[in-house]
Amino acid sequence: MKKLNIGIVGLGRLGKEYAINIQYRVPNANLIAACSLNKDEIEYAKKNLEVEKTYTDFDQMLTNTNIEAVVIISSTNVHAEQIIKAINKGLHVFCEKPLGVNIKECLMVEEEAKKHNDLIIMVGFVRRYDPSYMQAKKTIKENKVGTPFFVRSQTVDKDIWAPFQLEFVKTGGGIFHDFNVHDVDLARWFIGSEVVKVWSQGGAYRFKEFGRANDADNTFSFCEFKNGSMALIGASRTAPHGHDTFTEIIATEGKLTVGSPPSKNQVQISDKYGVRQECNETFFDRFKNAFLIQIQDFVDCVMKNVQPDCNLSNATEATIITTAMTSSFKMKSIVKVEDIILKNK
Ligand SMILES: NC(=O)c1ccc[n+]([C@@H]2O[C@H](COP(=O)([O-])OP(=O)(O)OC[C@H]3O[C@@H](n4cnc5c(N)ncnc54)[C@H](O)[C@@H]3O)[C@@H](O)[C@H]2O)c1
Repeated sequence: MKKLNIGIVGLGRLGKEYAINIQYRVPNANLIAACSLNKDEIEYAKKNLEVEKTYTDFDQMLTNTNIEAVVIISSTNVHAEQIIKAINKGLHVFCEKPLGVNIKECLMVEEEAKKHNDLIIMVGFVRRYDPSYMQAKKTIKENKVGTPFFVRSQTVDKDIWAPFQLEFVKTGGGIFHDFNVHDVDLARWFIGSEVVKVWSQGGAYRFKEFGRANDADNTFSFCEFKNGSMALIGASRTAPHGHDTFTEIIATEGKLTVGSPPSKNQVQISDKYGVRQECNETFFDRFKNAFLIQIQDFVDCVMKNVQPDCNLSNATEATIITTAMTSSFKMKSIVKVEDIILKNK
């Protein structure tokens, strides 16, 4: 079987999971190189990943290895520059969301990518690969619930991640870019129209440190679409019960709900606290399967020379909207997406 030779950059919380998937669970992929700034993660790669080479310098990995594709799971603030470097070396690219921390970075990548139409460039929006979200999309396509006109979607993390997130904010672009880029992508995907206006509100209600970092621990955004549809998008860093991501799609002849309640499994516990189910702990517990399906799809797209749906233009559009949300939150007013685009051109 022909195998795609891959180098990965970023071996942190999520990068390690990608590396294991690529090396041991994607049959037509070979992970031959790994790069991280962190020495412990390099040691981890040497011991556990059976890669030929490890690097602490991304440029050296691009120059000194015989890779055909790069998987970028590094901090968000270096995604754009790493994609541009990789495509200029003629390498196919998979990059985790978000494409960049601002619109300029996304447009720079798109501009450079135009010169490399032969390459497959994919941005990870893992929920599109989750079997339940895929089923919801199929149900809408088959017109079983009519036309969607309202999407309510939230990304909610367990509170124990707050200290990690406080560090993460420095490179991740803030709660709207980091959390809600998923919900925005889903709302566009299900509604099939573009957001024209947003109104975002929120605050640092429990962890005041997020306020001092110009960010929030809980937010809501109301979005108006060009075709008159609506979305209500929430984000939270303070859930005591676990990772509670869900989406509800209200359509003219029915409603779809994905991921609610956020149960870890099918077991119901009846005890002195009542009748209950355990909750997913992390995003990875919830989307473990989808992450594997997603990276398998990237490798297959490269092998078959097919461009994926999770392309640069969808990723840029999501960042434009999360930029509008950030701006609305900071200005405490409704923001028109066209004004944000003009300001960032
Ligand atoms: N799809 C999802 O649900 C999801 C969930 C979590 C994280 N992510 C995304 O994945 C990315 C990584 O997140 P994480 O939680 O694993 O972060 P992390 O902080 O745990 O790891 C970051 C990694 O990037 C590496 N890195 C940073 N700058 C680098 C550079 N210049 N050169 C080489 N390596 C560099 C670090 O060494 C580290 O290995 C982020 O962009 C994040 O938005 C997506």
